[in-house]
Amino acid sequence: MEKLIIKGGTRLSGEVVISGAKNAAIAILPATLLIDGVCTIENLPNISDVQIQCKILEELGAKIDWITSNSARIDTTNILSYKAPLDMTSKFRASYYFIGSLLGRCHNAETGLPGGCKLGARPIDQHIKGFEALGATVDVANGKIVASANKLTGSSIYMDTVSVGATINVMLSAVLAEGTTTIDNAAKEPHIVDVANFLNTMGADIRGAGTDIIKVNGVKSLKGGATYSVVPDQIEAGTFMLAAIASKGDITIKNCISEHLDCLTAKILEMGGNVEESGDEIRVWCDKRPQKTNIKTAPYPGFPTDLQAQMGVVLSIAEGTSIISENIWESRFQYTYELNKMGANITAQGKTAFFEGVESLSGAPVCATDLRAGAALIIAGIIANGTTELYNLEHIDRGYENIEMKFRNLGANIVRIRE
Ligand code: EPU
Repeated sequence: MEKLIIKGGTRLSGEVVISGAKNAAIAILPATLLIDGVCTIENLPNISDVQIQCKILEELGAKIDWITSNSARIDTTNILSYKAPLDMTSKFRASYYFIGSLLGRCHNAETGLPGGCKLGARPIDQHIKGFEALGATVDVANGKIVASANKLTGSSIYMDTVSVGATINVMLSAVLAEGTTTIDNAAKEPHIVDVANFLNTMGADIRGAGTDIIKVNGVKSLKGGATYSVVPDQIEAGTFMLAAIASKGDITIKNCISEHLDCLTAKILEMGGNVEESGDEIRVWCDKRPQKTNIKTAPYPGFPTDLQAQMGVVLSIAEGTSIISENIWESRFQYTYELNKMGANITAQGKTAFFEGVESLSGAPVCATDLRAGAALIIAGIIANGTTELYNLEHIDRGYENIEMKFRNLGANIVRIRE
């Protein structure tokens, strides 16, 4: 078992380079199955979710050559099976993208029911609704999803809820379908745009990604042959922005797209922090105790649920009482119980949590209850007085590349040890 030992009381300062976006990369990798040929993907984050996606691709017949630890040449000319291994696909959430891509490529798909962070109910009814609208039959039984279609035909789909996964999955299944598919009430996150850009670079015809209505004009095949670089991870960038505020530090975040973080920048300014944007860099600094604010999570361009826990750490030490309303995942306040062990004063009830700001946190043994909770607790450990031991690191390794090294380079005293 591994744990992080964090000696706290550090003011973070310096520069950090942001990796490729996890939630784009783990959709783009299954999307390569739609290509009858070779492509090269750069700026892939070196995280365990990417490694599993690559292993699943190889099991299906893809050949992957790593050029560096962040770029790979992927040959999907010969796909041997439409059955993605159940043990691997059941372990994490983004395995659901193999349904859309295998359905598109083979007209058949079989995967395990997706696993991933325990954030409450995580239905996939909108994914299934989309596949069925294109002509597929989908059965969910015995921990498996089995989908098949004689033919996929473009259709109009209205999403009952704004869903990142369903929007991308329907896009994947529609790329090689006959005719035009319209996705109404689509999600607009930067990674939706990135997956569409990747597919278009390989020969697809997708329009409107980043708006509420996406149109996919089916094409006969994707030839590939191109190189694509994954968009920078706005959640990783946001994590370091909030670490700067929490530690009253001064961090320059490099290789990021500031427009993707407009809602966070607005909140940081509201709390009394400073933000300076220049090209692909954002400098964030703060020299006083942050002020209270209220947060409501919402689909992009609203405040991302994936930055809620990191913001929670800032609010736990802010001046005054702040309220967070979590509107995407029902169980995303588990980290507040861990933060309370460190001296925070947070009351979570259903979708709402009340943060009575305290002067400081103190180190304690705590567990990463999910990926973003893990990142939040690292920040908490860095600003706390004394030593924090953080367990359940596998959650963090799923989504953050070299996180402790990046924090160490900013001055944090943090080591990983194996017990
Ligand atoms: N929903 C449905 N039916 C569906 C799909 C979703 O009711 O068929 C609901 C969900 O229950 C949720 C809401 O719609 O309340 C939004 O879910 P969405 O489908 O957008 O989430 P997801 O695709 O499962 C992705 C990210 C999450 C991120 C959410 C929201 C991946 C692999 N995961 O999940 O990322 O929180 O979008 O932005 O892309 C993380 O990175 O830590 C993480 C959890």
